[in-house]
Amino acid sequence: MPIVRGKIIEPLFTAEQIAERNRDIARQIAEGPTRDLLVIAVLKGSFIFAADLLRALHDVGLAPEVEFITLSSYGAGTVSQGVRIVKDIDSDVKNRDVLLIDDILESGRTLKFAKELLYERGARNVTLAVLLDKHVKRKEDLEADYVGFECPDYFVVGYGMDVAYAFRELPFVGIVQGDAPSDT
Ligand code: IMP
Ligand code: MG
Repeated sequence: MPIVRGKIIEPLFTAEQIAERNRDIARQIAEGPTRDLLVIAVLKGSFIFAADLLRALHDVGLAPEVEFITLSSYGAGTVSQGVRIVKDIDSDVKNRDVLLIDDILESGRTLKFAKELLYERGARNVTLAVLLDKHVKRKEDLEADYVGFECPDYFVVGYGMDVAYAFRELPFVGIVQGDAPSDT
């Protein structure tokens, strides 16, 4: 099992499995609404998935404009749960097909907020692509249009996703299992 900086990380989805799903998803996206396509990656967790998916979109003949939005949830675990914009996109979305890319769809609060925001701003279609779907955690009535993998209810890291700012650089998605035994 891979040991990264003293932690055992159990691979859940390998780099090869992810690459294959990215190619599948790109083909599906090409069959959906892509008029004047704007891709918006939700930072930070989606940055590697978005970068790979964009190149897969190129391979199926799409040439979208690319934007980034940073969103943050507040009040998790309290009554007043919400999402706020930390850094907004610069482009106008009016009458455009928009593809939102995120790492994980969990409660659905983040992407529901983003989707509604873009429709309010006049987007023609807003579709959602997520690498992982943690369906058991859903709180909102929201489904992604394109899903890489159904994800079991573990906290996962790698391929852009972090725990306490660590492990974003891993080329695979894994579960942190704990400390590796020391050999001293
Ligand atoms: P939600 O759908 O609004 O609950 O938000 C899901 C967001 O929480 C994702 O975009 C991630 O940023 C974060 N998140 C949820 N589960 C995990 C995980 O297992 N590892 C890392 N980040 C996670
Ligand atoms: Mg996120």
